[in-house]
Amino acid sequence: MLLAVLQPGGDAATALYIVAFSLFIIGIKRGTHPTTAKQGNLIAAAGMAVAVAATLLLDGMGNWGLIALGLGVGTAVGVIASIRVQMTEMPQMVALYNGVGGGAVALIAWSEIRNEIAEIDAGHISSVPLDILIPILFAAVVGSVSFWGSNIAFAKLQDLIPTKPLAVPGQQVINGVLLIGILAACVSIAVGNDDPSQLTFIGILVAAGLLGNLVVLPIGGADMPVVISLLNAFTGLSAAAAGFALDNVALIVAGTLVGSSGTILTMEMATAMNRSVANVLFAGFGGAPSGGAAGSGEERPHVSIGAQDAAIKLAYADTVVIVPGYGLAVAQAQHAIKEVADELEKRGVTVNYAIHPVAGRMPGHMNVLLAEADVPYENLKEMEEINPEMGRTDVAVVVGANDVTNPAAKNDPDSPIAGMPIIEVNEAQQVIVIKRSLSPGFAGIDNDLFYEPNTSMLFADAKQAAADIAAEIGNL
Ligand code: TAP
Repeated sequence: MLLAVLQPGGDAATALYIVAFSLFIIGIKRGTHPTTAKQGNLIAAAGMAVAVAATLLLDGMGNWGLIALGLGVGTAVGVIASIRVQMTEMPQMVALYNGVGGGAVALIAWSEIRNEIAEIDAGHISSVPLDILIPILFAAVVGSVSFWGSNIAFAKLQDLIPTKPLAVPGQQVINGVLLIGILAACVSIAVGNDDPSQLTFIGILVAAGLLGNLVVLPIGGADMPVVISLLNAFTGLSAAAAGFALDNVALIVAGTLVGSSGTILTMEMATAMNRSVANVLFAGFGGAPSGGAAGSGEERPHVSIGAQDAAIKLAYADTVVIVPGYGLAVAQAQHAIKEVADELEKRGVTVNYAIHPVAGRMPGHMNVLLAEADVPYENLKEMEEINPEMGRTDVAVVVGANDVTNPAAKNDPDSPIAGMPIIEVNEAQQVIVIKRSLSPGFAGIDNDLFYEPNTSMLFADAKQAAADIAAEIGNL
């Protein structure tokens, strides 16, 4: 490709594509660090703008009115949605965008089949060359699975359908039969059986859509971020396949980047929860609450304190570790927590933040929120770095976190989260847990931390509690 550009008269679109890919790769690289992530996003967006411009320069761009309409509607929806979306709604927004990508790829595959048939031999899919047909079938199946699966993920996260695992008896068998049927239909087309009305192809799209729905429905809402990341990787791979069919290098490179980064992210999220991707997909995790306060209805003895007591414990500590979780995001408590840290630092207390890799509901969730509140990046400590310090910490303040601090992950081999690495707050001299009740978190299980003798519960909305504590420290 490079040679084609360097030759005299080399084509401008190809040169622009190379610029776009470079920007994508730089954007992804910058996105790996909180301090450069925003810039990385802008760089990748600029890359996408260049790729769109390059595509418009390609030969055979037809209906400019439709193209302008598509660009206008897409831009308007994107701008309005990104302005309106709350940080806590980001996972479902990603699910929706990802689904749209997969759906677009499936439609491209269908339209490409129709084009090929019209060009080669009207009415006969079997006459489409295999090097085009196989990628088209792959893009159609995977794109359709991704679109319909992402829609279910969106609906669960948006509470449009119940977030608990929804499965019918024999679910795995039904899925297996659907998958075998789809593969058989693809092979039948590829080996030359005619499909004059494209009915088999449309059947493949429908069956793949059904499979996408049925695979995601039995997965609990809590596992949706992992599912979205996996479907995102699927969309990337289907886009790359469509790129092969259309002979479009931009789709191949961008699709491969999305496919590989989505796969790595999926693996990392599963590893951080100490679960396999297969367990996430097939175990029906994150369903009905179970155990202790979560299930029995009996309240176990615990110590409850107010903001003033919490302020006193914190103000007279030497070292404090703040452990943020999903509740901090829900309450938008990041600025109030920063105020608490500022007040403590004024009094000479050392304050650090312990970041669990899957705290919150999406990768980097806590990093993004704390960066928004101007928490210095060097104060954010990864789990492996902070855990050895916990025994020397005077007060650990858990702010809307639950599962990522649950000692059952270490102590109870029968716990659904057994083996998940946790922030070992129970090792600190004292623990203050700020949340509204004893309710469980994402995994739906009780947290023994709440009942330990060195733990004090502060029942309140995280933002309000943090603001009250900051004010109380200021008054001391
Ligand atoms: P969770 O275990 O989900 O607990 C969050 C807690 O926040 C809840 O127990 C809730 O208790 C509290 N809360 C909610 N709203 C609040 C508010 N306004 N003020 C104060 N507290 C509030 O959160 P976590 O510890 O961050 O763990 C994350 C979980 O998500 C893990 O199980 C993880 O495996 C899972 N997960 C994460 C990801 C990623 S990538 N981050 C992906 C998939 C799954 P109350 O209702 O009593 O207030």
